[in-house]
Amino acid sequence: VTHVSVGLLGLGTVGSGVVRMIEGNREELQHRVGCPVFIEKILVQNVEKERLVSINNEWLTQHPEDVIQNPNIQVVIEVMGGIELAREYITLALQNKKHVITANKDLMALYGAELLQVAHENECDLFYEASVAGGIPIIRSLVDGLASDKITKMMGIVNGTTNYILTKMDKQQRNYEEVLKEAQDLGYAEADPTSDVEGIDAARKMAILSTLGFSMHIHLDDVTVSGISKVTQEDLEYARQFGYTLKLIGNAKKDNGKVEISVEPTLLPDSHPLASVHNEYNAVYVYGESVGETMFFGPGAGQLPTATSVVSDLVAVVKNMRLGVNGKSVVAPQFDKQLKQPNE
Ligand code: NAP
Ligand code: HSE
Repeated sequence: VTHVSVGLLGLGTVGSGVVRMIEGNREELQHRVGCPVFIEKILVQNVEKERLVSINNEWLTQHPEDVIQNPNIQVVIEVMGGIELAREYITLALQNKKHVITANKDLMALYGAELLQVAHENECDLFYEASVAGGIPIIRSLVDGLASDKITKMMGIVNGTTNYILTKMDKQQRNYEEVLKEAQDLGYAEADPTSDVEGIDAARKMAILSTLGFSMHIHLDDVTVSGISKVTQEDLEYARQFGYTLKLIGNAKKDNGKVEISVEPTLLPDSHPLASVHNEYNAVYVYGESVGETMFFGPGAGQLPTATSVVSDLVAVVKNMRLGVNGKSVVAPQFDKQLKQPNE
């Protein structure tokens, strides 16, 4: 491998961070992967739009084939979001023998198994570290670091937008709409923030974590969900008076082979470690039978934290290219899915 050329699908919040990191950390990246990394093309909707990062205008295109069928490109980074088009482009990119990195949890929660199979068949990598908990390397921790253990419980704050809203409503007594707008302006929220505030984004992430942690195909529909759009200032005030903090918590448990996964606003005693996770920060508690309690903490959304996960996936892809082992690391879930019933 003498050099690596990368194509991006999308140049919004995350895509801009990826460009900043590839350009700004050029020397470090070359050192880590052993060859230079170049940006070749970037798909956007509007080539005239002002960008969050300085770019070479020749990079921009409105034609997806300039990225996914470009013979010069070896790695495609999907940071455009949405489900059907992203699924189509990623599938085509993999069939064109391009390794793919995505930050798209909407897609991976629904079609992760299908896309990983396509990647495997084409001897390509498909990595998605940025899809859960932004800059926290939680996927790699489950797939590699804790791979020897039996994970029986995961619990966490896995949506930055809602944690930002609840923190500002609670600590600064500000109103919901104003703080949601601020989270959108800071680039934390999804294009349609309904999935953030209704808990669906967190449910997608819990489905991905549970699939990996419990080694079962967990679908989004297996997660019971409620969000924070109905939380009032009075709820937060009431919790505060009694020494509690209200957080949107994802919970996943495996007991006797049966799993139970939920996302819901939850009252935590102020002394609970997750009660002090504020703003856009995320934290994931993982319990393994052998390791015991572990906790992962860091920024859960935003340009550079998310780009860190994406570009670290790029480093992993290029290392695999040098070793000739791309597409070899996919391990299919081991257990049949068994969900705990409400009356059990
Ligand atoms: P964003 O700011 O809305 O950017 C989306 C980009 O994709 C834009 O550049 C847009 O082009 C382009 N795009 C969208 N649809 C397109 C289409 N049909 N054809 C061509 N280009 C298209 O989104 P983002 O916040 O960066 O998020 C991107 C992905 O990362 C999503 O899957 C999101 O869930 C995930 N993610 C986001 C964060 C975060 O903190 N924001 C964190 C983790 C994961 P134009 O610029 O021309 O409009
Ligand atoms: N909208 C998501 C969040 C982005 O707020 O957590 C990171 O996945």
